[in-house]
Amino acid sequence: MSGVSAPLGLYIHWPYCRRICPYCDFNVYKARGHDTDLTDALIADLAGWADIAGKRAFTSIHFGGGTPSLMTPRDVERVIEAADRLFGLETGAEIGLEANPAEAVALPDLARAGINRLSVGVQSLDDRALARLGRDHDAARAIEAVGIAQTAVERVSVDLIFAREGQSLADWERELTAAIALGTGHVSAYQLTLEPGTAFAKQAETGRLTLPDGDAAADFQELTYGVLGAAGLTPYEISNFARKPDDRSVHNSLYWTGADWIGIGPGAHSRLFSSTTGGRLAAEAKERPGDYIAAVRQAGRGSEAEIRLTPAEDFAERVLMGLRIAEGIDRAALTAATRLALDAVRLETLAGDGWITVTLDRVMLTAQGRLLADRIGGELAEPQAS
Ligand SMILES: C[S@@+](CC[C@H](N)C(=O)[O-])C[C@H]1O[C@@H](n2cnc3c(N)ncnc32)[C@H](O)[C@@H]1O
Ligand code: SF4
Repeated sequence: MSGVSAPLGLYIHWPYCRRICPYCDFNVYKARGHDTDLTDALIADLAGWADIAGKRAFTSIHFGGGTPSLMTPRDVERVIEAADRLFGLETGAEIGLEANPAEAVALPDLARAGINRLSVGVQSLDDRALARLGRDHDAARAIEAVGIAQTAVERVSVDLIFAREGQSLADWERELTAAIALGTGHVSAYQLTLEPGTAFAKQAETGRLTLPDGDAAADFQELTYGVLGAAGLTPYEISNFARKPDDRSVHNSLYWTGADWIGIGPGAHSRLFSSTTGGRLAAEAKERPGDYIAAVRQAGRGSEAEIRLTPAEDFAERVLMGLRIAEGIDRAALTAATRLALDAVRLETLAGDGWITVTLDRVMLTAQGRLLADRIGGELAEPQAS
C-alpha cells in the first residue's frame, strides 16, 4: 500500500452474464463458465498500462459488466493483487463490484478476495416486473442477496429501474419504500431507457411494449427524489442517492469529476492525462472477448494505441459528466484542464429559463433541469468562441 496520489481509477469489464436482459445494451455475452484466459489477459493489459501511466496508486477499483459476480473469487483476488503490485492502492481504496442477486452465495468469498463495496442489481421488488425484465431472480432472492452483501461488506448499494411498462406511481412508491427498508447507504435509481438494438427496443417498435411517456417519466423522477430524499437518501448525481458523503461511489465520482481512469477488459474505455502531450488520452479496448484476449497476447495491450482528445472533445465530455452531479461543473477546473470556457450567452439563456443555476465557481442543474440533463449538457458542450 502507498500514500495518497492524484486520483486514478481502475475499471475492469467482465462481459459475461448468465442470460441477457432484454433492456440491456452493455457489452455483454451469454456465458456460464469461468474464463481464466480473460483474467490472464486483464492482468497482462494492466501491466501494459503501467508502462504508459507510470507508478500511480489507485484511488478505486471497480469490477463492472456484465456480471462480475460470476468471476471466481481467486480471479478477483488476482486482479486486485496485480493492481497493487503494478500501481499500488491508496490506503482505504474503494474496491467495488456489481453483483447479480442470483450469485448471492458468492458474495462473502468475493469480500474475502478484497471487495469492500457491493452494488446489487435488484432492479425491482415486484416478482411480475422482474419476470418482465427477464431477470433470473425474484424479489425474495434480491432481498436475501442484499442481506448477504450487508453481512459481507460495509458499503452496499442497490440498483433499481423505474418507469417500467404498466408500473403505476403507487407501485413505484411501494418498491422504493421496500428498498429503503433494506437499510443500504446507497441507492441507484435508473429510469428504464430503450436502447437501440435491444429486445425491448424491438418490442416497442412493434407495439408489444409501451413505456410511460415523457410527462409520466418526469412524475416518476419527482417521486423518486421525494421518497428517497424524505428517507435521508440525498441525490448527489442524477440517478444516485447516498445517506452520507462516505456512502457515495468514489469510483463513479472519478468519472463525473473528470479524473483519470484506466479501463481493462473487452470494450473498456480509459482516460488519462498525459504530461508528455499536455492533453487527455483516450483508449477503447477490443469489444469481443476473443479479440481482446488475442490483442493482449499479441501486443501486450487490449486497445489500439490511445488517441489524444482535442481540447473541444475533452471539454464536451467534462461538461456532460460534470452537469450530472449535484455540486455541478467546477468552472475553474474545467478551464484549467481544457483552456476553454463555458459560453456566457448560453449560460445566461439556460439560467434565465430555469434549467441551470450559475455561480462564479460552478454550474448546476435545477430540479427542472435534471429532467433534461443530456439536452442541456449538449447545449453547453460547445465552448465559448474565442
Ligand atoms: C452491469 S448492470 C449490474 C450488475 C448485474 N449485471 C445485474 O444486472 O444485476 C448495471 C445496471 O445498469 C442498469 N441498466 C442496464 N440497462 C438499463 C436500461 N436500459 N435502463 C435503465 N437501467 C439500465 C441496471 O440497473 C443494472 O443493474
Ligand atoms: S442488466 Fe446486468 S445481467 Fe442483465 S444483461 Fe445487462 S449486465 Fe447482464
